[in-house]
Amino acid sequence: MKDFFVFVFFLLVLGASSAFAEGVELDEAELACLKCHDKAGLKMKTEKGETLPLSISTQAFRESMHNKTSCEDCHDNLDSKEHGKEPSHVASKREFSLEMSKSCTSCHKENVKLYVDTVHAALIRDGSDKAPTCSDCHNSHTVKSVKIVTPLEQIPCARCHEDIFKAYSKDVHGLERVAKGKTGPQCSDCHSAHSIQAASLGDAIKNNCVKCHKDVAVSHEDWLPNAALHFDVISCPVCHAPDAQRRVNLRMIDSVDKKQLIEQKGVPKFERLAQSADQQKAGMSEQELKTFLKEFNLENTGNKAILNGRLEVRSGVQAHQLAEKSRAIKDCRVCHTAGATPFQSIVLTIAGQDGRPLRHSVEKEVLSSITAGGSLHGFYAIGSTRIKLLDYLLLIVVSGVLLVIVGHMTARRMFRSRREKLKEQRHSDFMQSQFDAESQSENETKGK
Ligand code: HEC
Ligand code: HEC
Ligand code: HEC
Ligand code: HEC
Ligand code: HEC
Ligand code: HEC
Ligand code: HEC
Ligand code: HEC
Ligand code: HEC
Repeated sequence: MKDFFVFVFFLLVLGASSAFAEGVELDEAELACLKCHDKAGLKMKTEKGETLPLSISTQAFRESMHNKTSCEDCHDNLDSKEHGKEPSHVASKREFSLEMSKSCTSCHKENVKLYVDTVHAALIRDGSDKAPTCSDCHNSHTVKSVKIVTPLEQIPCARCHEDIFKAYSKDVHGLERVAKGKTGPQCSDCHSAHSIQAASLGDAIKNNCVKCHKDVAVSHEDWLPNAALHFDVISCPVCHAPDAQRRVNLRMIDSVDKKQLIEQKGVPKFERLAQSADQQKAGMSEQELKTFLKEFNLENTGNKAILNGRLEVRSGVQAHQLAEKSRAIKDCRVCHTAGATPFQSIVLTIAGQDGRPLRHSVEKEVLSSITAGGSLHGFYAIGSTRIKLLDYLLLIVVSGVLLVIVGHMTARRMFRSRREKLKEQRHSDFMQSQFDAESQSENETKGK
């Protein structure tokens, strides 16, 4: 009988150890570190006076993706003789994280290479003590496979982008992730994880939307004439976050390659020139904007800077309040009416050194003149200047599908010819006024 109990006991022990088998057996060296470090409440003070917790759970480490990596692969600068007996020196938590993140390079070269070009890395190079390095998004001692779907509350971005996370967790995608636990995209599905760029830079986010929602170009074309053009000039949340406030962003782009301009290194000029052009400090008027552009281009060593209009939502939070499709903006008049609200707020932007936009506000009256001036590229059908045609378009929309097709084609043709005419007219006006400004300033210089 006693033997039987011993046998059962033996089986139980065997069972327990095979339950562990999912995590691997750790080497002596790891167990030696963990002998001291798997103690609740172990901590130390940094030289800055912060508390650095030092407890590592053996169990969690054993189940982590790094369970075959030895402590010393990453912690290669510990003094094996003195460690644990003499006090350690850690300048600050931040210094420690930055220093430790360098250890990832030896095994994850690809990720490190990508990460270097992100907005976060640029912020750190610029001295930010808040932007994330590797260890802010990954806990090396507990890291799980990326194949396991991260529960909402463990998404690493949440800690720092709290407001956006809150909005996201209640929008279509966040809810989808909560409800089904799987398919709803998380932050990195739209922004990527190691190639994160400033959100309004380039088309990466839009392209990611379209990667998942493959049919959008076709499905929108059913009711939205020239959907591709609308997609180019309207950021998706403008229509899909129905409660958002909208505005026009006049992006400065390169006249030749049409890419967004990035503020030059060294002595920045966007803010300086915008400040000096905007005399009342109440947003640039049409004339002030012209002056600004002229000055900017005079100092510019590259190609000419021109403007490219885009509708977007006003805050990061609003970009993450996407609603189900039945609530999306379908009413053309939201944009195509005289005095439509999205066109009442205008900003001029250039991409800063880290890619995030530097902004300066512009008077709304500017829009109707410059859109026609030819200096604003790819942003044309603004309600206030083209009311008649756009009303006509609305009529087409209400008159049904057949008319949409026929009407759309006609309208586009009409649009084109009228647009070309208007463009030419306004363009020459604009050139003229620019010329005037130039000759005026020339006269002034001569006069001195
Ligand atoms: C004898 C117990 C003991 C052992 C064994 C031990 N540590 Fe420590 N460790 C400590 C103590 C105590 C501190 C805090 C020292 C202080 O208060 O300044 C510490 C601090 C640390 C720190 C933070 C400060 C620093 O020096 O970077 C790291 C990282 C660390 N240990 C990793 C390890 C690793 C990896 C191993 C195995 C190679 C290990 N420890 C083995 C006791 C130990
Ligand atoms: C894959 C690399 C890697 C491995 C393997 C690793 N660590 Fe770490 N460890 C780090 C990084 C990175 C940090 C800094 C975390 C941060 O930014 O605070 C760290 C921090 C620590 C700290 C300070 C407390 C903390 O959590 O920040 C201790 C103690 C520590 N490690 C002990 C260990 C021990 C013991 C082992 C082995 C059982 C181990 N580490 C294995 C990368 C690693
Ligand atoms: C801003 C947060 C963030 C930072 C910073 C970050 N990562 Fe990641 N990382 C993620 C997320 C989220 C995933 C999983 C989802 C994915 O790949 O889209 C991931 C996945 C990974 C993976 C597994 C999948 C793959 O792509 O190979 C590795 C390895 C990795 N990261 C290493 C690193 C290293 C090394 C650094 C530092 C150079 C780093 N990460 C910096 C968020 C981050
Ligand atoms: C000594 C090599 C080594 C170092 C150094 C190292 N890792 Fe790893 N890492 C691994 C291995 C091995 C895996 C498991 C990969 C696998 O099986 O696909 C892994 C997996 C990961 C994963 C999960 C990948 C996945 O496929 O799900 C992440 C995230 C990760 N490491 C981040 C880091 C970070 C952050 C650092 C720096 C603090 C770091 N690693 C340092 C070897 C290393
Ligand atoms: C440790 C804190 C931290 C973590 C974690 C973090 N970020 Fe950031 N992030 C920042 C800081 C600080 C900035 C600069 C301030 C700002 O623009 O909000 C920033 C900026 C950004 C920007 C540029 C903002 C713009 O104007 O376009 C994007 C996009 C971004 N983060 C996305 C993410 C994503 C996605 C994740 C998760 C994969 C993440 N961040 C994780 C701190 C963090
Ligand atoms: C002018 C406003 C507008 C813009 C811009 C817009 N959408 Fe939509 N979208 C809608 C409306 C309205 C619906 C609902 C159509 C209906 O009644 O079925 C919709 C439907 C959808 C749907 C549901 C499935 C489908 O195909 O009908 C998805 C997904 C979607 N849009 C994604 C996007 C993406 C991604 C972008 C940016 C590339 C975008 N939308 C730009 C207004 C817009
Ligand atoms: C469905 C795709 C999608 C998801 C998921 C998503 N974002 Fe975004 N994010 C966007 C879009 C679109 C913008 C606005 C881009 C623009 O200017 O048009 C944006 C903008 C941002 C910005 C810049 C905000 C600003 O002030 O301009 C940050 C930071 C950001 N997102 C972080 C996050 C974080 C953190 C998460 C997860 C909690 C997340 N995003 C999830 C699509 C997404
Ligand atoms: C990783 C894939 C993925 C990405 C990236 C993504 N979505 Fe989604 N989206 C989904 C899934 C999954 C759903 C929920 C199921 C469904 O309705 O198709 C969804 C739902 C939606 C819906 C609601 C559709 C409805 O039927 O009511 C809209 C609108 C939408 N997404 C727009 C966007 C926009 C805009 C972007 C980019 C800013 C984007 N999505 C990026 C996967 C994605
Ligand atoms: C969220 C704002 C918004 C909504 C909603 C919207 N549009 Fe537009 N639309 C624009 C903007 C901005 C342009 C300017 C594009 C350009 O010419 O650069 C435009 C351009 C156009 C053009 C000119 C296309 C061309 O080929 O030059 C037509 C036609 C048009 N819209 C019709 C409609 C109709 C019909 C609806 C409703 C079904 C609608 N739009 C809904 C903002 C909107």
